Amino acid sequence: MDWKTRAWDRGPAFPMTLGWDLAGVVVRSTVPAFAAGDRVIAMSGQISTGLGTWADLVAVPAGLLTAAPARLPLVQAAALPLAGLTARQALDRVTPAPGERLLVTGAAGGVGSLAVQLARRSGARVDALVSRIAQVAVARELGASLVTDRVADLPVGAYDAVFDTASVHPGAALAPGGRYVSITDDPLPADIPGAAKNQVREDAAGLADLVALVDAGELRVRVGAWHAVEDVHRAHELFEAGGVPGKVVLIF
Ligand SMILES: NC(=O)c1ccc[n+]([C@@H]2O[C@H](COP(=O)([O-])OP(=O)(O)OC[C@H]3O[C@@H](n4cnc5c(N)ncnc54)[C@H](OP(=O)(O)O)[C@@H]3O)[C@@H](O)[C@H]2O)c1
Repeated sequence: MDWKTRAWDRGPAFPMTLGWDLAGVVVRSTVPAFAAGDRVIAMSGQISTGLGTWADLVAVPAGLLTAAPARLPLVQAAALPLAGLTARQALDRVTPAPGERLLVTGAAGGVGSLAVQLARRSGARVDALVSRIAQVAVARELGASLVTDRVADLPVGAYDAVFDTASVHPGAALAPGGRYVSITDDPLPADIPGAAKNQVREDAAGLADLVALVDAGELRVRVGAWHAVEDVHRAHELFEAGGVPGKVVLIF
């Protein structure tokens, strides 16, 4: 999201600060719910609010904050808010039920890897489409059943629901009447009735639910690389090149 916003010719007006994810320590609070020293995480809808999180000090409405997972260091917890809320809210649009079959595309990515794990908790069978053979093992380890890097290998008409995070549109894999949700910038496939696009919303309570799953050891957050903010160029280049095994975290 951040590199796309940077590269976007219609992006927010300058001056702007990038950044949707935040993990840090409260230095000053004006509300009783949080005190200096608390470890917190948040997602900020940077494009619409202009409130970016890539800074040493961030003034953020307390309503966006959630206690950080106790079992993760903050540099790892930073990878949860945007990707986790996106996965959770998009899955709510297709509500995979026990015994149903769901396909997640981009299953080794930031959103996809969390979506596979969350969808498995619903009792659905989750299959995964990844971009490279090296990611097959990753998606399997997250709980996906059939994992492939080739659209042609997907069973035709087999899925009750598809969650597209990778602009793949594997429409032929969807069963007649199946549900389809996308989070990508691409137009929705016209041939899938009811196909929906989901835009992530700030939701501190939803984020707290994800934190509880992390702390219970039931949700794994994958970080592929850490960079100091001075190295932000390299972080963008690395991510844009693709194939990073998890989120890229900037450290301030
Ligand atoms: N609508 C919203 O609210 C919302 C919120 C967050 C993100 N997004 C968007 O959602 C998308 C996913 O976000 P993300 O953070 O999960 O990105 P990400 O970490 O880059 O994950 C995308 C995954 O898709 C894989 N992929 C790319 N092309 C593929 C293909 N043809 N077949 C199978 N897999 C493929 C990528 O593999 P490689 O790394 O090998 O290329 C990567 O593993 C992005 O477009 C992002 O901008 C939307």
